[in-house]
Amino acid sequence: MSTEGLLAMRKIVIAIDGYSACGKSTTAKEVARILGYRYIDSGAMYRAVTLYFLDHLVSFTNPKEIDKALQDIKLTFVVNLKGVTEIFLNGINVEKAIRKMRISENVSQVSTIKVVREAMVALQRKMGKDKGIVMDGRDIGTVVFPEAELKVFLTADLMTRAFRRQKELLEKEDLVEIDTIVENLRSRDLIDSTRKESPLVKATDATEMDTTHVTIEEQVDEVVRMALSKMVVAGKLRG
Ligand code: DC
Repeated sequence: MSTEGLLAMRKIVIAIDGYSACGKSTTAKEVARILGYRYIDSGAMYRAVTLYFLDHLVSFTNPKEIDKALQDIKLTFVVNLKGVTEIFLNGINVEKAIRKMRISENVSQVSTIKVVREAMVALQRKMGKDKGIVMDGRDIGTVVFPEAELKVFLTADLMTRAFRRQKELLEKEDLVEIDTIVENLRSRDLIDSTRKESPLVKATDATEMDTTHVTIEEQVDEVVRMALSKMVVAGKLRG
């Protein structure tokens, strides 16, 4: 059987969680490319909802407005010509718009809303039902896919994360002061890990990786190595 055939037989779910700007998306994207898996950035979904709420002046505290907005929001992921997955909000590519600071400044608040989380989790589970998926976020290994075969929890020190995020924003021609980014990361970490609904916590069966002194290549290699060994186990279990 071809390598592709073998990989297809042993499809698993890979959950990558962790704090903001730890390199989750970069790692997840590359791991998915190497394994031929689908990559889903769950943070992009919360960001797209935030963009819609801000553009349509949806009050974050008005349940009726939120319900109506959630009914009107359609999120889809499309793989572009470079093989990169991009998010579309009601048919429009919002990949760039959702990375702006105005979204980062509001997204943690939007993602504390219970009905928003319920809608996103339902969509995420649907996308992962056939396995062969790498999803990154905050609650993937704990809430979305508690049965995921591989769970990775990324950490890195605050300043390292802030400089990485600043570089990423600069590449998108968005010049943001380092202090603003540090403050944003600090406040999102706090909201994300102390909120009532699905707070950011490491799943007990997740492998923790501190990426402060690790290159993206090393990070990716390690996750692929772990994934391959889980795929062998999954293959054996399924016969
Ligand atoms: O990964 P990110 O920084 O793009 O995520 C943006 C925000 O979305 C993050 O501050 C918290 C929220 N989020 C979440 O609550 N649950 C997820 N699974 C992913 C993101």
